[in-house]
Amino acid sequence: MKNKTVPILVIGFVVVMALGALVAAFPLKSAVKFYRQVTMERIRSAVDVQPSSQTNAVYVGSKVCASCHADIYEVQHHSMHPKMIQDAKADPAVMVADFASLPADASFAKDEVVYTIGSKFKQRYMLRKDTKAADGSAVENYVIGNYEWNTETQVWQPYKAYKDWYHDAWPEDNAQIPTSHTCDGCHFTGFNSRYTRVEPGVNCENCHGPGSAHAADPKEGSIYVATQQDPQRAMEVCLQCHMRNVDKRLENPKVTVKDLYGDARDGPYGYEPGMPLSKYKLQEPFKPGESDSKFYGNGVGKKNRMQGNDYVQSTMYKHGITCMNCHDPHAVDNTAVNPRGAQQCMVCHKFGSPIGPHQYSAVAHSRHEPGPRSPDCIDCHMPKVGQHTGKSPYTVRTHVFRFIYPQESIDYGIPNACNACHDKSLEWTQQKMDEWGMTTWERH
Ligand code: HEC
Ligand code: HEC
Ligand code: HEC
Ligand code: HEC
Ligand code: HEC
Ligand code: HEC
Ligand code: HEC
Ligand code: HEC
Repeated sequence: MKNKTVPILVIGFVVVMALGALVAAFPLKSAVKFYRQVTMERIRSAVDVQPSSQTNAVYVGSKVCASCHADIYEVQHHSMHPKMIQDAKADPAVMVADFASLPADASFAKDEVVYTIGSKFKQRYMLRKDTKAADGSAVENYVIGNYEWNTETQVWQPYKAYKDWYHDAWPEDNAQIPTSHTCDGCHFTGFNSRYTRVEPGVNCENCHGPGSAHAADPKEGSIYVATQQDPQRAMEVCLQCHMRNVDKRLENPKVTVKDLYGDARDGPYGYEPGMPLSKYKLQEPFKPGESDSKFYGNGVGKKNRMQGNDYVQSTMYKHGITCMNCHDPHAVDNTAVNPRGAQQCMVCHKFGSPIGPHQYSAVAHSRHEPGPRSPDCIDCHMPKVGQHTGKSPYTVRTHVFRFIYPQESIDYGIPNACNACHDKSLEWTQQKMDEWGMTTWERH
C-alpha cells in the first residue's frame, strides 16, 4: 500500500507541475485551439480532398451564395479580393489614374478600358482583344495596356508584361499576350479550373470550389472548407494565387520556356480547392546564392505576391500555423491599412515560452526600450524588402519571419529591419548585433 502511494504522489506532483508550467507558458484558451490545429493529421500533398459532390458541380457566382450567407457575403464583398478586377464600363470611377497625363504613345484610351486590374499599389488596364479557338471561332479575351498607373508614386510608367519569367514564350508587345494565359486565373472567379470568367475578382468559389450542388441542396451537397483538415493543405487555397510559379510543364527537364511559345501559362490551371495544388503548380525556382528579378540570394522574395514562396520557408509553416491564423479569409484584414499590431503574435508567443522569444522580456529580446518609435515584432520580423514595381518604394513585407541579418544586406543587397530606422552603415548595424551576442553562425 505505502509502496504504491509514494510513486503515485510523485507522478501526481509532476503532472500538476507540468500542467502548471504549460498554463504559465501559454494563454490557455488560445493554446487549446492552437493544439488541435497543429496536431491535425498530415494527409500529404498528393491526396485529393475535394468533396465528391463538387466533382460535377459548376461555378454559380457569389450572388447565389449571398442569398443564404448574407453576413459572410457582406464582409467579403467589402474586402479587396472582389475589387481586384473591376468593370470600368459599368463604373468609370474605378479607374484611379490621372488619364489627362496618359503619355501620347499609350496603346489605349480611357474609353477603351473594359476592366481595371488592381488599385491599391498599381492599376493596369484590360482591353478587349479576342483570340481564335481551334475551329476559328472567336473566344472572349483581353490584353493589357502598355502603361500602368503607379498608385504609390502617382505617375504613369511603362508596363512590359514580357519581363516576367515567360519572356521567351510570348512576344515583347503586350498586345500579343492574352490575359487568359498570364493573368486571369488569379484574378477572376472560376478561371483557373474552368477557363471561364464566372465573375470578376476573387470570390467565394475561388476558395470553396464550384458551388452549384451545395446551393441546390446544402445538406447533401457538401462544399470544401480549407481549415477542416491538414493545416498545410489548408493554405493551398491561398497559395494558388499568393505564390509565384512557372508553367507546370517546365517540370519536365526536356521542356524549355521556348517550347511553350504562344502557350505558356502563369497560374495553376486546372486546380480547384481541395485538389492537391502540387499537381497543378510549380513553385518559381530559386538558386541559392544567386539574386534574380524575383529572389534575393538568401531565398527571400523581392516582389509582391510572394507570401507563399516566403512562408513555406518558415518554421511556422512547417508546424501548421496558417495564413488564416493571421488573416480572416473573408475580411482579408491585417494589412498595412488595417493592421492588427504586435498582439496578433502574442496570441501564441510569450516571452520566455518554449516557442520563443527565448528571453523573459521585450527589452531583453529586442534590446530596445519601449517607446512610440521603438520597433515591434513586425518591424523586426517582417521588414519591407519587396517592391510592387521596379519604380515603387519598398512596401512589401516579407513572410519568412525569421530575422534577416545586416550581414545578409551586405551579401545579398536585401534591406534589413535595423537600417530601415537607423541611418547608419550596414557594418555599424552588424557590429551592434555582434556586441549583443547574436552569434555569427546564425547569420545565413
Ligand atoms: C439555399 C441556401 C444556401 C446557398 C444558396 C448556399 N449555401 Fe452554403 N450553406 C447553407 C447551409 C444551410 C449550410 C449549413 C449546412 C450544414 O450545416 O450542413 C451551409 C454551409 C456552408 C459552408 C460550410 C460547410 C461546412 O462543411 O462547414 C460553406 C463553406 C458554404 N456554405 C459556402 C457556400 C458558398 C460558397 C455558396 C455559393 C456557391 C453557398 N454556400 C450557397 C446554405 C446555402
Ligand atoms: C480567400 C478565400 C475565401 C473566400 C474568397 C471565401 N471564403 Fe469562406 N471560408 C474560407 C476559409 C479558409 C474558411 C474557414 C475559416 C476558419 O476555419 O476559420 C471559410 C469558411 C466559410 C464558412 C463556414 C464557417 C463560417 O465562417 O461560418 C462559410 C459558410 C463560408 N466560408 C462562406 C463563404 C461565402 C458565402 C463566401 C463568398 C461571399 C466565401 N466564403 C468566400 C475561405 C474563403
Ligand atoms: C484567386 C486568387 C486569390 C486567392 C485564392 C486568394 N487571394 Fe488574396 N489576393 C488576391 C489578389 C489578386 C489580391 C489583391 C487585391 C486587390 O488589390 O484588389 C489579394 C489580396 C489579399 C490581401 C490584402 C488585402 C488588402 O486589403 O489589401 C490579403 C491579406 C490576402 N489576399 C490574403 C489571402 C488569404 C489568407 C487567402 C487564402 C484564404 C487568399 N488571399 C486567397 C488573390 C487571391
Ligand atoms: C499566380 C497568380 C497570379 C498571376 C498569374 C497574376 N497575378 Fe496579379 N496578383 C496576384 C496576387 C495574389 C496579388 C495580390 C498580392 C500581392 O500583390 O502581394 C496580385 C496583385 C496584382 C496587382 C496589384 C493590385 C493592387 O491593388 O495594387 C496588379 C496590378 C496585378 N496583380 C496585375 C497582374 C497582371 C497584369 C497579371 C498578368 C500579366 C497578373 N497580375 C498575374 C496573383 C497573380
Ligand atoms: C504570423 C502571422 C502571419 C501569417 C502566418 C501570414 N501573414 Fe500575411 N501578413 C501578416 C502581417 C502582420 C502583415 C502586414 C500588416 C501590416 O503591414 O501591418 C501581412 C501582410 C500580408 C499581405 C499584404 C497586405 C498589404 O498590406 O498589402 C498579404 C497579401 C498577405 N499578408 C497574405 C498572406 C498569405 C497568403 C499568407 C499565407 C501564405 C500569410 N499572409 C501568412 C501576418 C501574417
Ligand atoms: C497561431 C500561433 C502563432 C502565431 C499567431 C504566431 N506564431 Fe510565430 N510561431 C508559432 C510556432 C508554433 C512557431 C514554431 C516554434 C518552434 O518550433 O520553435 C513559431 C515560430 C516563430 C519564429 C521563429 C521562426 C523561424 O522560422 O525561425 C518567429 C520569428 C515567429 N514565430 C514570429 C512571429 C511573429 C512576428 C508573429 C506575429 C506577426 C507570430 N510569430 C505569430 C506560432 C505562432
Ligand atoms: C529589434 C528587433 C526585434 C524585435 C522588436 C523583435 N524581435 Fe524577435 N528576434 C530578433 C532577432 C535578431 C532574433 C534572432 C535570435 C537571436 O539571434 O537572438 C529573433 C528571434 C525571435 C524568435 C525565435 C526564437 C528566439 O528567441 O530566438 C521568435 C519566436 C521571435 N523573435 C518573436 C518575436 C516577437 C513575438 C516579437 C514581438 C513581441 C519580437 N520577436 C520582436 C529581433 C527582434
Ligand atoms: C522601428 C524602428 C527601429 C528598428 C526597426 C530598430 N531600431 Fe534601434 N532604435 C530605435 C529607436 C527609436 C531607438 C532609441 C530608443 C532606444 O534607445 O530604445 C533605437 C536605439 C538603438 C540603439 C542605441 C542607440 C544608438 O543609436 O546607438 C542601437 C545600438 C540600436 N537601436 C540598434 C538597432 C539594431 C541592431 C536593430 C536591428 C536588430 C534596430 N536597432 C532596429 C528604432 C529602431
